[in-house]
This record gives sequence, structure tokens and C-alpha cells, in this order.
Amino acid sequence: MKGLILAGGAGTRLRPITHTSAKQLVPVANKPILFYGIEEMARADITDIAIIVGDTADEIREAVGDGSRFGVQVTYIPQAAPLGLAHCVLIAREFLADDDFVMYLGDNMLQQGVGDFVERFEKGRAAAAGEDSPVPVAQILLARVDDPRQFGVAEIDGGHVVRLVEKPTDPPSDLALVGVYLFGPTIHEAVRAIEPSGRGELEITDAIQWLIDQGHRIHHDVLDGWWIDTGKKDDLLHSNRLILETLESRIEGSVDDASTIEGRVVVESGAEIVGSRVRGPAIIGERTKVVNSFVGPFTSISRDCEVVDSELDHSVVLEESRILGIAGIADSLVGKQVEVTRSGRRPRALRLMLGDHSHVDLE
Ligand code: TTP
Repeated sequence: MKGLILAGGAGTRLRPITHTSAKQLVPVANKPILFYGIEEMARADITDIAIIVGDTADEIREAVGDGSRFGVQVTYIPQAAPLGLAHCVLIAREFLADDDFVMYLGDNMLQQGVGDFVERFEKGRAAAAGEDSPVPVAQILLARVDDPRQFGVAEIDGGHVVRLVEKPTDPPSDLALVGVYLFGPTIHEAVRAIEPSGRGELEITDAIQWLIDQGHRIHHDVLDGWWIDTGKKDDLLHSNRLILETLESRIEGSVDDASTIEGRVVVESGAEIVGSRVRGPAIIGERTKVVNSFVGPFTSISRDCEVVDSELDHSVVLEESRILGIAGIADSLVGKQVEVTRSGRRPRALRLMLGDHSHVDLE
């Protein structure tokens, strides 16, 4: 079993952050989203992994390297433009050869690992081959969602997947396609057979529908844990909350006597908490200084930041940013090397989405 992680794409929904950075590298609890997926694969003993990369290839290569620190081997496959999920399979043909593989969208996070899902697919294929019944050529993962209209949706009949529709106006079920798929080599015929959709992309839903139309068997699983497509700010903050819930306290940096730490808080090495209150779950990155401030629950502050005379909660702050004299920051995503300062009265509440290198001065 090989792994194919999709980390190209445009990331329009997470702009302005993704004007300058890869959305798959935005941190959740101070760890890039993409790393969670790679770690999941390693846990499922999938060690031969290709990552599809686009415009942000250099940044992703630099962050992931050859994969050795995750215990995997990574091959990079450049995609000239985001031409669709099925296009990613098309260009990975040589790497994938005739092996089964798990395809994982690099901006998705799931609570439950992929191990059980992979095991069921392998068992299903082996059992069907032994019994002379149709061998499943793909297995999809589904999750019940409140509004299926913004997802790929599956119609199930008699326990079988009979139809997949992309962003339907009249959804046939509430079962959305989660960004993890398992395929046998028959998928290569499918991605070659389909045509680009109305939005100009080779859709993976069309490729799977092609398999169904050819009489192939598709298995499915319905997820019980949470699943988040982190491509939008609120979803990203939501996954940050869920991961921080699982945090274990660890204080490696310094906390002075005038400061209080409540609940589960990680203070990374070299971080300094001075005259401040940090209420967990929260994580303060390496060498970050929190001075005379309140850091509230569900907040992740990356490395080398400065938070002085400020209050923030339910927020994610990326590396090397400075927040000086600002109260009431909540539900915010602050990019890298951002500076938020103030020269007038304190504002009551702020909800921010700031791209890298922004500079905000509140007068
Ligand atoms: P999407 O979220 O579907 O697309 P996108 O990244 O272009 O984002 P947006 O809608 O905000 O513009 O992509 C899911 C994942 O797959 C994501 O990690 C990017 C990756 N991807 C590719 O690698 N190649 C592609 O051609 C596409 C469409 C996506």
C-alpha cells in the first residue's frame, strides 16, 4: 500500500494567508496540518508516500524533507496547475505503479486514524478474491454532515455506493465524501476515461462514478469521529480547538511568579510568560514572549511571537508576529510576521484574518 498526499491547489478560501503560504502548512496546535496526515500514514505502516505539490512546492519540501523524521520516504510530484483531484492520480501513475494506495487531501484532519480503514479495504479485497465475488476497486470514507450541498455526496442503496454527486443542489443523502480514499489500480483507467468538469477540473467523484458505471464494486465506511476540511478560517479554528482538547500540560519555558497558568497549557522551550494569565487549553511556541497579557482558552501562538499588554482567545497566531496593546482578540487567524499595534483607545472586540507580513495600527 502506497500513500498519495495532495498538497497543491490554490487555497483561495484561506486567503490572504495562502497568498504567501501553503494552506497545508498552517499550524493547528502549532503543528502543520500536513504533518498530521503524514503521521497517520506512518501509523498505518504506509511508508512509501508521494506528495503532490503546486506553487508552494519549495515551502512544502523544506518543511517535510525526505520524510525520514516521520519514518517514511517522500517523493515529490509537481503539478503545473490545480487541475483536480483525479488529475493528481493521473500524474502519479509512475509512482503508484499497480499498487493499492490511500489518497489523502493534505488540508483534511480526522480524529480517527486511517489504519482501520486501510485494513478493511485489504481484507475486503482478499476475501472477495477468495470467494470469487466482485473485488472492491475503491473504498470511500463518508461522514454525516448538516449541509451536504457544499460537499461531494454519496447515494447508498442496498449497502452499495450507487452514485456520487459533487456539490448537489438536491443532495441524495447527508453522507459527504471525506478527503481520504482507497484505490486499487483500476482507478488509473477511470482517471484516463473522464473529461474535465464544468469548473475545468478532473473530478475524483467522476472517476469513482465511472468505476460504478463500469460495474465495479465500491466499498464505503462511515466515520464516527470528527473530520474537518481545514480550508476555511472557522474550520481551521475549529480543528485547533479539537486538537488542543487533547493537549497534555508541559512547561519547558519560563513562567514568572506574577503569572498564572490554568488548565492544560504547553509552554515550549525558550518561551517566557511574564505577569500574565494563560488559561488552557493553549500552547505557547518556542521563544515566544507573553507579557502583561491574558491568553485565553483554545489559543495557539507559534514560535518567536510577542504578545504584550493584550488579551486573546480562541485564536491561532503564526510565527514571528507581534500583538501589542490589543484587548479582545477572539476567533482570529493571524499570519506570520504580522504586527498589530494600537495608538488610541482600546477596541472592545476584534475578529481578525490577517495575511503574512500584515501591519495593523488601531487608532
Ligand atoms: P481543495 O480544497 O478542493 O482545493 P484548493 O486547494 O484549490 O482550495 P480552494 O478551494 O480554497 O481554492 O483541495 C483539496 C486538497 O487537494 C488541498 O490540499 C489541495 C489539494 N489539491 C491538489 O493538490 N491539486 C489539485 O488539483 C486540487 C484541486 C487540490
